[in-house]
Amino acid sequence: MKDTKQYQLDRENVPQHVAIVMDGNGRWAKKRSLPRLAGHNAGMAALKEIVKRSDVLGVKYLTVYAFSTENWKRPADEVSGIFKLLIVYMKKELAELHANNVHVQIFGDYSRLPKDSIDALETALEKTKNNTGLKFNIALNYGGRDEMMQAIRRLAAKCCDGTLKPEELSEEMVAQQLYTAGMPDPELIIRTSGELRLSNFLLWQSAYSEFVFTDVLWPDFTPEEYERCIAEFQGRKRRYGGV
Ligand code: IPE
Ligand code: IPE
Ligand code: MG
Repeated sequence: MKDTKQYQLDRENVPQHVAIVMDGNGRWAKKRSLPRLAGHNAGMAALKEIVKRSDVLGVKYLTVYAFSTENWKRPADEVSGIFKLLIVYMKKELAELHANNVHVQIFGDYSRLPKDSIDALETALEKTKNNTGLKFNIALNYGGRDEMMQAIRRLAAKCCDGTLKPEELSEEMVAQQLYTAGMPDPELIIRTSGELRLSNFLLWQSAYSEFVFTDVLWPDFTPEEYERCIAEFQGRKRRYGGV
């Protein structure tokens, strides 16, 4: 981890859209000789604080990677345990999220989740749907390739039925088919736990994102470390291919 004092957060220039790969729950638990689910549970507590700080800092969109399309490969009890923790998180946090005007959205096909998880999620979606504050996007059973495949299928169907010509296809039309339709691309993507990869997160949207990798394991990721990551981002020079 880099020295905290090296970075000075500029509160006037906070990114509009921050995306986070919340990684390292399992290793956090292992270090403490606890079951992996204890790590996921501690991760939920970290998430609560990061959502709050995002709001305070004026971040407009927060997208967190909670469960990937590849995470189904994990043991069934870990998978079902994660979904159970998600219900607990939603039930515990919904009132406060709503009071803070947070709009919860899900990126990913959550229809594959257990019924009680779907119910808890849909309650949150419904309750917060008209909120105008922080857009809190939870990527659940999300995969960037899956997201693009669905977009391709829908656009291809329009081409086949003649409502769209292939030469009329544009980047904007593709972007409109993604979960992030109408949102800015994330300026900043943070990944915790020292892994240096995207793991199928926001493949289209990350074309010009800045990446900040921190060795901190997700359950240990504090609002202070979050601010340090944003400050690190603020020190970057973004060129978009220009000079
Ligand atoms: C991230 O933590 C949470 C999910 C992927 C659901 P991990 O469970 O991947 O933690 P590590 O990478 O094994 O430490
Ligand atoms: C990425 O973490 C997915 C989430 C954080 C939800 P993984 O732990 O699943 O990624 P890999 O397997 O290390 O690439
Ligand atoms: Mg991991």
